[in-house]
Amino acid sequence: RILILDFGSQVTQLIARRVREAHVYCEVHSCEVTDEFIREFKPTGIILSGSHMSAYEESTDEAPKAVFEMGVPVLGICYGMQTMAMQLGGKVESGAQREFGYAEVREHGHTKLLENLYDFIDDDGHNYLKVWMSHGDKVTQMPEGFKLMCSTPTCPIAGMADEKRGFYAVQFHPEVTHTEKGRQILENFVLRICKANPDWVMGNFAVEAVEKIRAQVGEDEVILGLSGGVDSSVTAALIHKAIGEQLTCVFVDNGLLRLHEREQVAQTFRENMGMKLVVVDASDRFMAALDGVTDPEAKRKIIGRLFVEVFQEEAAKLPRAKWLAQGTIYPDVIESNGAKTKKAQTIKSHHNVGGLPDTLHLKLLEPLRELFKDEVRELGIELGLPAEMVYRHPFPGPGLGVRILGAIKREYADLLREADAIFIEELRAADWYDKVSQAFVVFLPVKSVGVMGDGRTYDWVVSLRAVQTSDFMTAKWAHLPYELLGKVSNRIINEVKGINRVVYDVSGKPPATIEWE
Ligand code: XMP
Repeated sequence: RILILDFGSQVTQLIARRVREAHVYCEVHSCEVTDEFIREFKPTGIILSGSHMSAYEESTDEAPKAVFEMGVPVLGICYGMQTMAMQLGGKVESGAQREFGYAEVREHGHTKLLENLYDFIDDDGHNYLKVWMSHGDKVTQMPEGFKLMCSTPTCPIAGMADEKRGFYAVQFHPEVTHTEKGRQILENFVLRICKANPDWVMGNFAVEAVEKIRAQVGEDEVILGLSGGVDSSVTAALIHKAIGEQLTCVFVDNGLLRLHEREQVAQTFRENMGMKLVVVDASDRFMAALDGVTDPEAKRKIIGRLFVEVFQEEAAKLPRAKWLAQGTIYPDVIESNGAKTKKAQTIKSHHNVGGLPDTLHLKLLEPLRELFKDEVRELGIELGLPAEMVYRHPFPGPGLGVRILGAIKREYADLLREADAIFIEELRAADWYDKVSQAFVVFLPVKSVGVMGDGRTYDWVVSLRAVQTSDFMTAKWAHLPYELLGKVSNRIINEVKGINRVVYDVSGKPPATIEWE
């Protein structure tokens, strides 16, 4: 297994994802771990991440000494390269010229890391890689034993290697997709240089996880809040496979779900998979509590609090439950572990089924803690969940509550549900659903004049939203074909009585956010 030490880069997770894509297990830990920790981890290789990519703050962090004393290969990326150089006796200077974005690096000599990897060859026969750079400081003198691996005009030492010791370092970022051969570079490192076992596949994971859950839980009962989202659904399927009837899932209908969602969840989990499922219709309670509330954060808090209340009431009916299962996944774990994660300003207080309180006095069961989202999906398929559910777009915890701007009314939610279902249906029919990361309709509490047949209408407006993103931190609005937009608009206006105007949201994130509230 590979150990990734995080120096606070925003893209450290991507390193881990690339390594996992090569079917090698890896973990991300803070660069502040101790030498003992590293020895006990017994890594087959170590990767040192970059530092804050945008901030150019001076970092003084060093890798623990053990990193270079374990006799295992080490790859330094960006700041990781600089600290490797410094700690092994080289020199780093702050660059007068910052390099940010696309760059072409020339390769020097042959190393195992870049063997047979290049994007083009120049007239003089030199191999070049197209990469993504982001750095201010740079290595100006290599430590003893290192050879030059690559360079750019502004960064004469853009990569170096001491192949005898298995130490490699690159100033660019192989983990981001802009570095075209990045995935192969990381694959070369873990498979060819570290010789790690490519045995990290979801079939194996499922078998081991089932045994672990059985051993952990014994005869106890487990309760799980099922939202219908990917994470909680896969958690449910996995635990059900392990302990069957000892698991009870609770699904809360808050009145802010998508069209037929409750029925679909009941069909999949109760009818098809034979799970114990409690469905609570709490929509009246949610609507009453939200009556007249217009502030987005206040709405989120009410929805979150009520969910906890309803869930607790159900849990109280299952006194033999000793465990609370949650669909926590690896990015959540990295984030809460990350000593380096900077406190970001709260733009939206995201809530999902996660935040259940300790007052439940239940032990936590989190079988997906080690998995990235794409692995969770793979596991879901492995466990027999329908692909449509596993590859569904994300849906926020507060549901339609943040897609009805301002005060929420049942009438608005009903209109929105219908319009949204039409949009999604047409996206699927046009083969666009999987090409966008998230798509939905937003209800605007605004009335406008229209004409239908011979009559004047004065009805509501909705906006379509579709975005493409890989991390949901930034997003582009999707360039859906006009014909598709036209068809969706026609259908919504014709089929949903009460809506007479459809607009399309052409704002990116930033400066807009994906949801409207
Ligand atoms: P924004 O609107 O912040 O959304 O650009 C980014 C992603 O997060 C989802 N989202 C939420 N998810 N609870 C959630 O569980 C929330 O309160 C919440 N708000 C936004 C949003 O759907 C998008 O995928």
